[in-house]
Formats: sequence, structure tokens, C-alpha cells
Amino acid sequence: MTVNSGNRLKVLYSREEIEAAINRLAEKIALEYRGRNPVLIGVLKGSFIFMSDLVRRLDFPLEMEFVRLSSYGSSTESSGKIKLEHSVKTTIKGKDVLVVEDIVDTGLSLTFLMDYLKKKKPATLKLCCLMDKPSRRKAPVTIHYSGFIVPDQFLVGYGLDYAEQYRNLPDICILEGEK
Ligand code: IMP
Ligand code: MG
Repeated sequence: MTVNSGNRLKVLYSREEIEAAINRLAEKIALEYRGRNPVLIGVLKGSFIFMSDLVRRLDFPLEMEFVRLSSYGSSTESSGKIKLEHSVKTTIKGKDVLVVEDIVDTGLSLTFLMDYLKKKKPATLKLCCLMDKPSRRKAPVTIHYSGFIVPDQFLVGYGLDYAEQYRNLPDICILEGEK
């Protein structure tokens, strides 16, 4: 893929490694949620590919919702200011809710979102993220299902962007020259 000048892509996790990680996550999630008709809430835009691969490995009834948060502009640093651009449209009161996120970095977005969802009184509220970047955490987040612990590098692909580019890469790559 053509990259912006000054940037280089290096594969961190191949599509096969991602698939294996999602299979492991799906097995664990199925053990806990089968028969409970959970609501999976994907966090747009980053989690759209992860969400679609994950739910296709869950062979039991479930519902899906999406929320949209904004914090990152086109830069690689979180502003820390989180806004809910699009919320859940069905009631989640009394339901088993699993939030599906691409990556937890500072933890600011997820802290905001989990607090917001908690107020809607779900029966249970848990978090599944494909990647956890613990080195940059500013707010503690409990992650119940995590695919990879990743290094402090800026990652793109498999839904993750840099200035809205690279979401369509099938592998997760380090964007060298950015951090
Ligand atoms: P937070 O810093 O934990 O609030 O992360 C907010 C959002 O920033 C994540 O859900 C991602 O969508 C995005 N993000 C964090 N780290 C990266 C990265 O390395 N590459 C691309 N997006 C990222
Ligand atoms: Mg995200």
C-alpha cells in the first residue's frame, strides 16, 4: 500500500495471528454469554472490522449496537476530551452488555463510555478489546477480554486509522515515523 511520505508500515500482527486471537476471544465470550442474548456494543469507527469478525464466530443469539465517540482528531494524541456522537438506540437496562473496542490506549474514551453505559443499568457490563496498550494509560480500565498487549507504537490497519487512512489494511501494522 502507498504510504504518506516519511511513514513506513511494518506488520506487527498478520491477518492469521489476528484470526487466531479472535478465535480465542470468541471461545471465551461464548462460554460466558451463550443463552444470555447479550448486547454487543461496537465503538465506531475503529472497531468495525473487529466487531464484524468477532460476531461471526459467536453462534448464539445476540444483539448489536454501535456508539461513536470523538476524541482523536487527525493527530495521534488523544485530546482527552470525549464526546458521544452517536449513542445506543435500544434499551440496555437489565441486559448483559459487552463493549467491543479496537484498542485501549490512555483509557479516557472507555472510562467515559463505561460510566455512561453504567448509568443505563445493564445487568452486566464488560469490555472486550482487541488490543491493550497499557504503557500509555491515564485512566484505569478493567478489560475482561483482551486479544493482544501491544507496545507503545502507533498502529494502523484492521480498522485503526491515521488521519482516516489505513483502516482497510488486513494486518495490524506499526506506522513508523509516527508515535
Ligand atoms: P484512548 O486513548 O484509550 O481513549 O483511545 C481512544 C481511541 O484512540 C481508541 O479507541 C482508538 O480508536 C484510537 N487509538 C488509540 N491508539 C491508537 C493507535 O495506536 N492507532 C490508531 N488509533 C488508536
Ligand atoms: Mg476505538
